[in-house]
Amino acid sequence: TGPDTVSPTDQPTGADQARMAQSGSYLTNAQGTRLYDTDHSLKAGPRGPVLLQDHHLREKIMHFDHERIPERVVHARGAGAHGVFRSYGTAANVTKAAFLAEDVETPVFVRFSTVLGSRGSSDTVRDTRGFATKFYTSEGVFDLVGNNIPVFFIQDAIKFPDVVHAAKPHPDREIPQAQSAHDTFWDFVTLHTEATHHTLWNMSDRGIPRSFRTMEGFGVHTFRLVDAAGGTTLVKFHWKPKLGVHSLVWEEAQLVNGMDPDFHRRDLADAIEAGAYPEWEFGIQTFPDTPDQTFEGIDLLDPTNIVPEELAPVQPIGLLTLNRNPSNFFAETEQVAFHPGHLVPGIDITDDPLLAGRLFSYLDTQITRLAGPNFAQIPINRPQAPVNDMLRDGFHQTAVHRGVAPYRPNSLDGGCPFTAGADTGAYIETPVRVPEATKVREAPASFDDHFSQPRRFWLSMSPVEREHIIGAYSFELGKCYEPAIRERALQVLANIDPELCAGVAAGLGLPAPEPTVPLADVEPSPALSQVGHTWPTD
Ligand code: HEM
Repeated sequence: TGPDTVSPTDQPTGADQARMAQSGSYLTNAQGTRLYDTDHSLKAGPRGPVLLQDHHLREKIMHFDHERIPERVVHARGAGAHGVFRSYGTAANVTKAAFLAEDVETPVFVRFSTVLGSRGSSDTVRDTRGFATKFYTSEGVFDLVGNNIPVFFIQDAIKFPDVVHAAKPHPDREIPQAQSAHDTFWDFVTLHTEATHHTLWNMSDRGIPRSFRTMEGFGVHTFRLVDAAGGTTLVKFHWKPKLGVHSLVWEEAQLVNGMDPDFHRRDLADAIEAGAYPEWEFGIQTFPDTPDQTFEGIDLLDPTNIVPEELAPVQPIGLLTLNRNPSNFFAETEQVAFHPGHLVPGIDITDDPLLAGRLFSYLDTQITRLAGPNFAQIPINRPQAPVNDMLRDGFHQTAVHRGVAPYRPNSLDGGCPFTAGADTGAYIETPVRVPEATKVREAPASFDDHFSQPRRFWLSMSPVEREHIIGAYSFELGKCYEPAIRERALQVLANIDPELCAGVAAGLGLPAPEPTVPLADVEPSPALSQVGHTWPTD
């Protein structure tokens, strides 16, 4: 830590250490006073009334009453693990990020999650999975807050409350708890057809992964890398599991769901405990940072788009190994706070409007979830780099700051002068040119094509994967009560592919409509199929 900040880690005394380990040779109350009995309330006689003056009783129950914190508004159910990231150095020509230089090892914490279910819901439901990684780099924390699906439902964060309200359980009966088979979800995704691509991935085998260890991960948005000379490159981030990409089939997922709702978190913890450390290769697809920020006609600022790997191969830049289970779920997995704006020099954002909203949302929600602004001091969130931030006070402040002048420069505390712009190792936002523009509340025309990328995905599937997708749509839509929503869903499918639409229509016992848009002339991308997946390469 810097000279003005005493971090909590600097000061545990013997008593604090004993409290953390809960290993003392005698029992105390929270004030350190020794207890002779923790099983009986203080009473006026063995059969008499309990006395209000029993501080131990009140303290013990008060603390218990406040043990729960609010669960995350999305991604509430998760499982985490510690590990290490070793960089190959192959990205050093496009980014100055110190942790991406050759052979640098960086500690990490990863949290996998489902999106919709509550903390106590099941693991093997059909849903998107979160794949969030905290890199504790020497230059500060970098968080890559991604999913196992490379595209998102919406293109503008202003719709996020709407899509989540539509996908969460119905407000009257709180049904369904954790799955997508309900009217509001299908109502939303068929009225907001930019959701078509993400929904198709959900209905594919990707929606029911076999294990967290066999999932890909994606940063989704396009990011901007900056090299030492200030040159920039646009990138998409990928995690490629060394075990390959594998899913359950629907019947398996249903059975496992009933027999072991903790299947994925158990699998992760057991594998790590057994020394079968899961590994992912970190990779980037790179694109020239052109003024229009498109690649081969694909708008890189539209998070409903992928760039096929055949057009821009994923280049491996490092290896992630998860090798240690958390020792306390609450302290680590529950209290970890990721944020897409936690960036380090050499990694910058782009103008994707979905990413812009995320940059506000995560900090905002964490103030409530973690009760105040000091959650960066919680052990799992602490940077493993010096902190000298001039932030003061607030709920749950645990640092004992020194000095009288929490501003820079000052002439009172001495030392640590600060001259704006002088620190060459500092994070500097890339000076990207903002085109002359008129203030508008609208989307660009390049965000309007909602069907050609889903069509590419469908055309890339093997026969068995197509069968599974038709089965998934038929099952889920079969549970929609509102006929108009089922019919609108078929119209969306007709705009992707006639075979897909006909299969689902037959499953629902409805006629298949004709497409209302010309079917896109797109090439399949074999890398999208789990059967055709060519990673790992060695
Ligand atoms: C949580 C991914 C879009 C708001 C999460 C988590 C992941 C994630 C992985 C769980 C983090 C953890 O394990 O603690 C994504 C991806 C998105 C996306 C990949 C799109 C590309 C959005 C948008 C918003 C949003 C557009 C809001 C405008 C939230 C909130 C949480 C969350 C509020 C809970 C955070 C917390 O309580 O700590 N997201 N998300 N997300 N996300 Fe997103």
